[in-house]
Amino acid sequence: MILLDGKLVSNIVKDNVKQKVDEIVSKYNKVPTLAVVMVGNNPASAVYVRNKIKACEKVGIKSVHVVLDETISQQELENKIKELAVDDEINGILVQLPLPEGFDSDSAIRLIPQNKDVDGLTKGNVADLVLGEKGIVPCTPLGVMDLLKHYNIEVSGKRVVIIGRSMLVGKPLFFLMTNANATVTLCHSKTKNIAEITKEADIVVCALGKAKFLKEEMVKDGAVIVDVGINKTEDGLVGDADFDTLKEKASYITPVPGGCGPMTVAELLNNTVDCFYKQQTK
Ligand code: GUN
Repeated sequence: MILLDGKLVSNIVKDNVKQKVDEIVSKYNKVPTLAVVMVGNNPASAVYVRNKIKACEKVGIKSVHVVLDETISQQELENKIKELAVDDEINGILVQLPLPEGFDSDSAIRLIPQNKDVDGLTKGNVADLVLGEKGIVPCTPLGVMDLLKHYNIEVSGKRVVIIGRSMLVGKPLFFLMTNANATVTLCHSKTKNIAEITKEADIVVCALGKAKFLKEEMVKDGAVIVDVGINKTEDGLVGDADFDTLKEKASYITPVPGGCGPMTVAELLNNTVDCFYKQQTK
C-alpha cells in the first residue's frame, strides 16, 4: 500500500501558486486578496478558516478575515457580501460553510460574482464544470484530481464510486471524473446495497461525513481509496474510511489527517490566483 501524501503534494501546489503570486506582484503591482467570511464561531469552521488564512500568508496572498456574529440577520450578511463583490481590492470571496442554522446559504452565495467565486459554487461556475468549460471548480474535488495525478493514478476508463453528493465535493467530483473519462457512480444516503457498488470500484472516494463508514469488506483488492471525511471521535480525528483495515487491501489510500485536507487549502490558493487573472481580462 502506498500513502497518498496530501501534505507533500499540497506543498508542490503551493510552491507553484507562490510563483504565480510573485509574478502577479511584479507584473501588476497588486497583491491577490481573498476575503474569508465566517458567521458565528463553529469550532471546526474556525480551525479550517485559520488554516486557510495561514496558507494565504505562506504564498503571499493577502487575506481579509470577515467575522460576523451569528446574531446578525441574513440581510446584514448579504450586505457584507455585496460590499466585497464590488470592492476592486478583493479578488476572491469564500463564505465558510455551513452557515449557522437559520441562514440561507444559497441566497448568500448567489451574490458572489462568478469571477470571485473561489469555491466554484455559483451557477455560472457549476454550469462551466458540467459543460466541460474552464471555470472555477470547488477546491476539494480539484485536490482529489491533483493528488491522483501526482501518483500517476490513471482515471480514464476506470470505475470510480463516489459516496456523498454535496455541492462542495461529490457532485463536482462526479463531473471532473466524467470529463476525465472515468465511469462514475455517485452514491448517497438513499443508495441501496452500497457495498455491492463500492466492490466494483477501482477508485472509491468517501465524502459522506460518517466516521469509518467504508470497511475493508466493501472494496476489492487493490482499490484506490480517497478519503475526504474528517470526523471528530473519541479516537481523535478519523476519516470516512476505516483506514486500519483498508490499508492492507488498498493499493493507495489517503491518510486522515494529511490527505485531502491540505490539498483543499492549496487549491483554494490556486483558485484565488485564477480569480485574480479572470478579473484582469474583464
Ligand atoms: N466547509 C468545509 N469545506 C469547505 C469549503 O471547501 N468551502 C467552504 N466555503 N466551506 C467549507
